[in-house]
Amino acid sequence: MIHLRQSRSSIIFSESDETLSILHWGKKIGDLNAAAEKALAVATQKPHFHGGLDVAPRNLILREHSRGFIGHPALRGHRNGVAASNHFKLKSASQKDQSMVALFHDEIAELEITLTYTLTPSDVLLIDASVKNLGTTDYFLEHFLYWLPLAEQADELLDFYGHWTKERQPQRREIGYGLTSREGFEGRSGHDYTITQVALNHSTNFRSGEAWSLAMAWSGNNIHHVERLIDGSKAIGAGEYLLPGEVILKPGESYEAPRAIASFSDQGLDGITSNHYDWIRSRSNHITKVRPRPLTLNMWEAVYFNHSFEGIKKIVDKAAEIGVERVVLDDGWFGSRRTDNKGLGDWVVSKDVWPDGLQPIIKYINDKGIEFGLWFEGEMVNADSDLYRAHPDWILQEPGRIPVEGRWQQVLDLTKEGAYNHVLNQVDAVLSENNIAYIKWDHNRHLSDPISDGRAVVRKQTQAIYRLFDELKRRHPGLEIESCASGGGRVDLGMIEHADRFWTSDQNDALERQQIQRWTGLVIPPEFLGTHVGPTVGHQMHRTHNISFRVINALFGHAGIEWNVTEASDEEIATLKSYVAFYKKNRDLLHSGDVVRSDVLVGNAQMYGTVAKDKKRAIFSYMQLTSADNFGPLVATFEGLDSKTTYTFKVVEELSSQDFLQKSHPGWWPSVAMTGEQLANIGLQLPVLKPESGLLFEIVAS
Ligand code: GLA
Repeated sequence: MIHLRQSRSSIIFSESDETLSILHWGKKIGDLNAAAEKALAVATQKPHFHGGLDVAPRNLILREHSRGFIGHPALRGHRNGVAASNHFKLKSASQKDQSMVALFHDEIAELEITLTYTLTPSDVLLIDASVKNLGTTDYFLEHFLYWLPLAEQADELLDFYGHWTKERQPQRREIGYGLTSREGFEGRSGHDYTITQVALNHSTNFRSGEAWSLAMAWSGNNIHHVERLIDGSKAIGAGEYLLPGEVILKPGESYEAPRAIASFSDQGLDGITSNHYDWIRSRSNHITKVRPRPLTLNMWEAVYFNHSFEGIKKIVDKAAEIGVERVVLDDGWFGSRRTDNKGLGDWVVSKDVWPDGLQPIIKYINDKGIEFGLWFEGEMVNADSDLYRAHPDWILQEPGRIPVEGRWQQVLDLTKEGAYNHVLNQVDAVLSENNIAYIKWDHNRHLSDPISDGRAVVRKQTQAIYRLFDELKRRHPGLEIESCASGGGRVDLGMIEHADRFWTSDQNDALERQQIQRWTGLVIPPEFLGTHVGPTVGHQMHRTHNISFRVINALFGHAGIEWNVTEASDEEIATLKSYVAFYKKNRDLLHSGDVVRSDVLVGNAQMYGTVAKDKKRAIFSYMQLTSADNFGPLVATFEGLDSKTTYTFKVVEELSSQDFLQKSHPGWWPSVAMTGEQLANIGLQLPVLKPESGLLFEIVAS
């Protein structure tokens, strides 16, 4: 047996009959000696069932039907109609530290599969696979899926759905018999992308219970499955969705599957989150290792296409007064792009709006100590553009058919060298001529016809954008890239290796954002998530939230502003200044701590906190979403702190709501000294808040 183990989880592989199956994936198991291995092998052996084959069902890694497995196979493919059946034999399996490499060979199908499992110290399991054609004819690969077995007590599934302005909404349901499937064919991860799938027990919540997650580190087409079979087994699976003919392996060629990312927690969903955050933050190039995340003002909702030196200058003056550290000029600065139906593809500064180029405005911004960022959407082209007029053949399309437009645009075929170089060189030139620290990179339509010269190319197009981002960063050291796709349409665990930030959603309404941010944050740390304070009347919902609710919402991410701040009232400006100051003072904690999401809904509210690794500091928010059921809200408890330490618990009054539905403040207001044990188990009384208002708390070891 091979046993990979870290502080909280184990995965045990068992070898028999020239193959590998997974005997356990879940709670950490102690050392296994030879006797224990023998005992476990028989203890977990299933009986043969009536009406089935004369083999015992097992959690086979490759799930071949030829071995009696009855569910979804790991590999599907053929050689022009033959060699559709598989029977892989294990050639070798070796362990090094907490990593296992297994090599399989199918002599008849003439294929070799290499699978690598690495259980990281953060209890995140990374799985990589490659499929090699050892034959003399082409191998038509239909799919390669990663599968992990689920324990009996995993009886529910949590996954996510969504659309523009409402990404990553949770759905939790019983795991029924058969295949439960989420498949994405947008050619990007998409607004409806599940981001991860979590199997869990019906009693699992944020703070307790078992959970098993599996996600793809991939921004293209995708598959997420859960399968419950009549032989009693349950498994979770994921992989890249391949279109017909997308991967045809020539003799000697290999398919490198995108990586899968799995995790087990016996400390609820917060444990899944901590595992992901710890792993992402442990990477040597993690963004907070480079520098603290600068407070960002993005110009989209401030000016839309109405670019002018004077207008932007006024906003920059206010931004500087507030303490903004980065200003981003959004869509509309290039080519004929005065509206969203033309100019896309022509990445040359427009003389109409910026007659002297971008340098004067950048200098103006830089002179105030603020850095500058710029918007691009390099994978797209408007039909009304110089690029399309010169190269109508550079779009993804089925030969002879023009794809339906999306936001008046077509997708540029980045698998064509000319198109790729055009984008790379134009963007590179703008970055070389100007002092640009950051780019916001958009992707505003689906790949409805992802065809290049007759062949499906979502995979190659996805690899091309990864390559392009990496090349831009290589040419411009220090450049940061934000991944945006009509808001949060390309937020995934693959893009974190190439981009530094996500525009979480075009939904900037603080109430809607509470839900979107909460669930995006399940696996993506807040330092990656753009969270901006919007205008007094929100542009998406046309709703007004008080400034306190808006700033508390925006604090728990990579904070910023999406607003023409010259229109803000004096009171709003004062709160924005406090918000910026609080963010700068506390971003080290906000971007490194452990997440605590309270399971106790204190009167239709949501409570969220970040606790420092050394448990010396914490920041919590209490957000009243709808009106409280009781006139005296429940006492709120605060978990995740050190039970013996005494903390000063204090409300951050300058950012919190002061408009209560009661005659007096709670007795402790505005601060009280309590131990972590008391805060977690007794808690303290909150004021009765009006709906859509919030409180911010600072908890510091005294
Ligand atoms: C997309 C983005 C927005 C903005 C516009 C510009 O919708 O999500 O933030 O950049 O494009 O056209």
